[in-house]
Amino acid sequence: MSAYDVARGLHILAVIAWMAGLLFLPRLYAYDAEQAAKPEPLRTEMRTLLRTWQGRLLKIILNPAMGMAWIFGLWLIHIDVSARGWSFLAEPWMLTKLLGVFLLSGWHGYLTAEGKRIVAGTSVRTSKFWRMTNEAPFLLAIVMVLSVTTEWRF
Ligand code: HEM
Repeated sequence: MSAYDVARGLHILAVIAWMAGLLFLPRLYAYDAEQAAKPEPLRTEMRTLLRTWQGRLLKIILNPAMGMAWIFGLWLIHIDVSARGWSFLAEPWMLTKLLGVFLLSGWHGYLTAEGKRIVAGTSVRTSKFWRMTNEAPFLLAIVMVLSVTTEWRF
């Protein structure tokens, strides 16, 4: 058993938790937006419950999972650099992977900001928007995972 194997396993576990959170949070935002059509006091009761779940999901799952995915990912880069030098970071498969990492991290940041706007009542996003963008992280994940597993080149 090598350090690389351990880092890779922990990296994959962190990524699984991160993806689960990224797929679930927009769904909670969609349900929240749909409460606008509900009568009071049901609307306020439902939104209070949904916003508690949104906050907990971010705090307990999403933020720690993204942190761990980054920490173990950077550890993998460190091990890879010692084994094969810096050049692999410029290979097309790794550049694709890194672009995906930045897009996913940006989407995570956007979801966090939207969560604050939802609570403040200033979000303009509709349920349709959240349902349409819901699968985007998974599509990105397909490209990223296949990039690292195949290490494709031109
Ligand atoms: C958060 C920042 C991330 C960094 C810095 C990072 C970096 C890395 C590095 C350097 C490797 C080893 C590549 C190799 O030597 O073959 C790796 C492996 C892997 N990464 Fe990431 N990664 C990150 C996030 C992600 C995400 C979001 C996903 C999935 C959506 C992902 C999926 C994988 C998988 C499946 C492997 C294992 C590939 C294999 O062993 O064949 N990573 N990552």
